[in-house]
Amino acid sequence: MVELAYLAAAVCFVLSLGGLSAPSTARRGNTLGIVGMAIALVATLPATQSLAAFAGALVVGGTIGAVLAKRVAMTAMPELVAILHSFVGLAAVLVGVAGYLAHPHGELDALRVIHLVECFLGVIIGSLTFTGSVIAFGKLKELIKSKPLVFPFRHGVNALLALLTLACLGWFVVAQAGLPLYLAMVLFGVLGVLLVMGIGGADMPVVVSMLNSYSGWAASATGFLLGNDLLIIVGALVGSSGAILSYIMCKAMNRSFVSVILGGFGAEASGPDDRAEAFSKKGVNRAGPEDVAEMLKSARSVIIVPGYGMAVAQAQHAVREMTELMQKNGTTVRFAIHPVAGRLPGHMNVLLAEANIPYPIVLEMDEINPDMVETDIVLVLGANDIVNPDALENPKSALAGMPVLEVWKAQTVVAVKRSLNPGFAGIDNPLYYRDNTLMLFGDARKMVDSLVAQLKGTVSH
Ligand code: TAP
Repeated sequence: MVELAYLAAAVCFVLSLGGLSAPSTARRGNTLGIVGMAIALVATLPATQSLAAFAGALVVGGTIGAVLAKRVAMTAMPELVAILHSFVGLAAVLVGVAGYLAHPHGELDALRVIHLVECFLGVIIGSLTFTGSVIAFGKLKELIKSKPLVFPFRHGVNALLALLTLACLGWFVVAQAGLPLYLAMVLFGVLGVLLVMGIGGADMPVVVSMLNSYSGWAASATGFLLGNDLLIIVGALVGSSGAILSYIMCKAMNRSFVSVILGGFGAEASGPDDRAEAFSKKGVNRAGPEDVAEMLKSARSVIIVPGYGMAVAQAQHAVREMTELMQKNGTTVRFAIHPVAGRLPGHMNVLLAEANIPYPIVLEMDEINPDMVETDIVLVLGANDIVNPDALENPKSALAGMPVLEVWKAQTVVAVKRSLNPGFAGIDNPLYYRDNTLMLFGDARKMVDSLVAQLKGTVSH
C-alpha cells in the first residue's frame, strides 16, 4: 500500500510539473502538487515511530510555512525560495550524519561502501546547498552586498577545497571514521559560501535555480540513504527541473552555465560608466502623463514591457484597465515578456494573469522582438536591465551578450520609472538618452492611474 501510495504521489508530482508549464494549466498543476504531497505525508505515517513527533513536526512546520507563504510579497519570493532550499540542505546533512552514526562501523563489503558513499554525498551536497542558500538569501535580501567577491586564485582555492573533499571521501570509506565526514562537511560548506559570494548582479536568478537543483539532488541522496523511493523520485524531479531551468536562464542571459557556477561574473557591473558625463550633458527627454496619454490615443500599436518596478508598484490591475481603454480605442496592445524580467521566473506572467490580462496578447521575447520596428509606442513599465541596448551594442558592458527586448527599434519609447537609477545589475542604461525615448518619471502605479484617467477623458486641463 505504501509503495502504491508513493507511486501515486510521484505521478501527481510529474503531472504537477507538466501543469505548471503553461499559465492556463498552472492552477491544476498546483493542485496536483498539493494532492501528491498530502498522499506522501499520509503514506509516511506507518513508518513513523512516534505519532506525536510526526504531528508536532507537521503542525509546527506547516504553521510556519503557511504564515510565511501568506505574508511574503511576490517580489520577495526568491529570498523565500533560497531560505527554503537551505532547510533541505540542512536536513540532508542531518540525515547523512545520522545515517553514519546509526552504524559507525561494519565489515567493508560493497554494500557498506555504498552506504558510506551515500552518507558522504548527502552530507556534502547538503552542506553546500545550506551555506550557498544562506548566502543567496543574504544577497537577495541585500544583507550582503550583491557585488561578486573576487580574489586572486579563487578558482584554485575552490578546486583545492573540492580535491581535499575527495581525499576525505577516501579516508572516510577506508577508516569509517567521523572526522573526515565532518571535515568534508566544513570544506563543502566553505565552498558553497565562496561559490555564491563569487556570483553577483544579473546572475543571481541562475544561482537560486541552481541551488534549487542542488537541494533536489541532496533530497535524492537522502532518499537512497533512507531507502525512500518517493524521496529519490521527487529529489530527481527537483534536481533535473532546477538544472533545466538554470540552463534556460543561462541561455536567456547569454551566460555559459559553467562560467556562472564558477562565479565572478557581473563584477564589471559595479564599475562606473565612463560615458556618464556625456549622458548627463545630453540629458533626457521628459514627458508628462498628459503628453503620453495623447500619444497613446493616436497610436495604432502599443507594446507594454513590464519589469520589476511594475511588480513593486503593484500596477498590474491599473495596466489592465489602461489596456482595455486603448483596445476600445482601436489600438493593438500586446505585452512583451523577458525571461528574467522581475525577480523570479514567470514573475510577470503571474502578475498579468492575476490581473486577468488575456494570455494571447502576452508574448515571449523571441516572438515579439521582430515586431518592435513596426510598433508606434513601447511603454517600458519599471523595467531596466531587460531593455538595455548595451547588452547588444557594448561588448564591455556587464550585460554584453544577454538577449534583451529591442524596444529602441520602435518609433517611440516611453520609460516609466521614478529616477535614472540603475536596475538589478547596477549599470547605466543608454536607452534613456536616446532621441526616441521619453521619460515619464514617477511611481508606475500612479503614472498608469493617471494615464487611465487621461484616456477616460476625465481629467480637465
Ligand atoms: P530592473 O533592471 O531591476 O529594473 C527595475 C526598475 O524599476 C528600476 O530601474 C527602478 O528604477 C524601477 N522601479 C522600482 N520601483 C518602481 C516603482 N514603484 N515605480 C516605477 N519604477 C520602479 O528590472 P527588470 O528590467 O525587470 O530586470 C530584471 C533584473 O533582475 C535583471 O537584471 C535580472 O537578471 C534580475 N533578476 C531576475 C530574476 C528573475 S528569475 N526574473 C531574479 C533575480 C534577479 P527607479 O528606482 O528609478 O524607479
